[in-house]
Amino acid sequence: MKTQVAIIGAGPAGLMLGQLLTRAGIDNLILERQSADYVLGRIRAGVLEQGTVDLLDEAGAGARMHAEGLPHSGFSLCFDGDELRIDLEALTGRAVMVYGQTEVTRDLMALRQSSGAPTLYGAKDVALHDIDGSPRITFTRDGAPAQLSCDFIAGCDGFHGPSRAAMPPEVLRLFERVYPFGWLGVLVDRPPAAHELVYAHHERGFALCSMRSATRSRYYIQCDTTENLADWSDDRFYDELSRRIPAATAAALQRGPAIEKSIAPLRSFVAEPLRHGRLFLAGDAAHIVPPTGAKGLNLAMHDVRCLYDALAEHYRAGSDAGVEHYSARVLDRIWRTERFSWSLTTLLHSFPGADPFTRRIQRAEFDALVSSPKLQTVLAENYTGLVS
Ligand code: FAD
Ligand code: DHB
Repeated sequence: MKTQVAIIGAGPAGLMLGQLLTRAGIDNLILERQSADYVLGRIRAGVLEQGTVDLLDEAGAGARMHAEGLPHSGFSLCFDGDELRIDLEALTGRAVMVYGQTEVTRDLMALRQSSGAPTLYGAKDVALHDIDGSPRITFTRDGAPAQLSCDFIAGCDGFHGPSRAAMPPEVLRLFERVYPFGWLGVLVDRPPAAHELVYAHHERGFALCSMRSATRSRYYIQCDTTENLADWSDDRFYDELSRRIPAATAAALQRGPAIEKSIAPLRSFVAEPLRHGRLFLAGDAAHIVPPTGAKGLNLAMHDVRCLYDALAEHYRAGSDAGVEHYSARVLDRIWRTERFSWSLTTLLHSFPGADPFTRRIQRAEFDALVSSPKLQTVLAENYTGLVS
């Protein structure tokens, strides 16, 4: 097999890149280890920045998002029961869109299917070769070996995929922080407890009230990474959530049977550089942010926008300037977003064993936000998505 751009991974990053390339007439093939249903079953992010909304529109994938997504002009930050509304619209002139990653993925998959561009699901043993010469990918499908030659490889294969591991170890630098807690998430078919998102710091741990629609809610609580899901009945989860969120929100909480329940560890991670030869890394293959700022999916989309620009410049103008600059261009935003996600995580979580001084500093930071519209503006600019 032969293509111009081989994409590894059919998550939102791989599918979006594929869609942009297909629209530009650039041949591409996606290799995905899992089935399409498995990919759609992963419940992840829920908040889209304006830049992501714009990219979905540009890709022709925005219609259902505009019809069914929920534009949010603000959210609540709470600290031990005290509440501060961050008025995104007033502070930045911008809002965010609540529309689940599952739906973004579903829309991109449908477009890809109608375009006829190939996606090989169930591709196993994916291995990258000659990334600084004439790149090739070998894999197996239904037990049969196969080979794909290409001009470029886009590694959109998430944190555990083979692309990053194919970079020569002597050129790769890894930066990582693993947090001593995770998030236990529940998806439930009940109306949201609050009409906007509520992020809450409590000494028992962080809690988040989010949503997918007017009738479907998504809730998270900070938990120990060693927790066993089986120990968390729905009632135990709602009891714990109720303790950590403001009383009025807890009173409005509608309990229902969880339709999904999972624990995600929290990590900050960046790989540098994000290109070697003809291999690019994008999305979770390149970086992980803790989910507190809702940035993972949005950052992946920004990488893909830059990667698409670079590849389009290569094929249309015959210039490799964009290819050469891809890594530096995306790393600038990646590090600024890492900083934001780390700082919001540090403010809102309860760190096991934290001393009283650390707790007072967290409180002082919340109080500083309450009293300073300037600080609120910086937070709102980061939350809605950096524009430069
Ligand atoms: P992924 O969505 O991980 O897609 C990578 C794809 O590559 C997958 O489909 C995978 O199956 C495929 N792949 C992997 N290995 C191979 C292989 N060997 N061969 C072929 N294909 C392969 N962000 C938020 O903003 N809010 C959240 O609440 C949130 N929750 C999250 C919960 C979890 C458990 C995780 C893992 C992430 C979460 N994120 C969240 C982050 C956000 O979902 C990601 O940033 C986003 O999915 C990145 O998209 P991606 O396409 O780069 O990677
Ligand atoms: C959701 C997840 C987040 O990490 C976040 O900051 C906001 C919302 C969600 O899954 O709805």
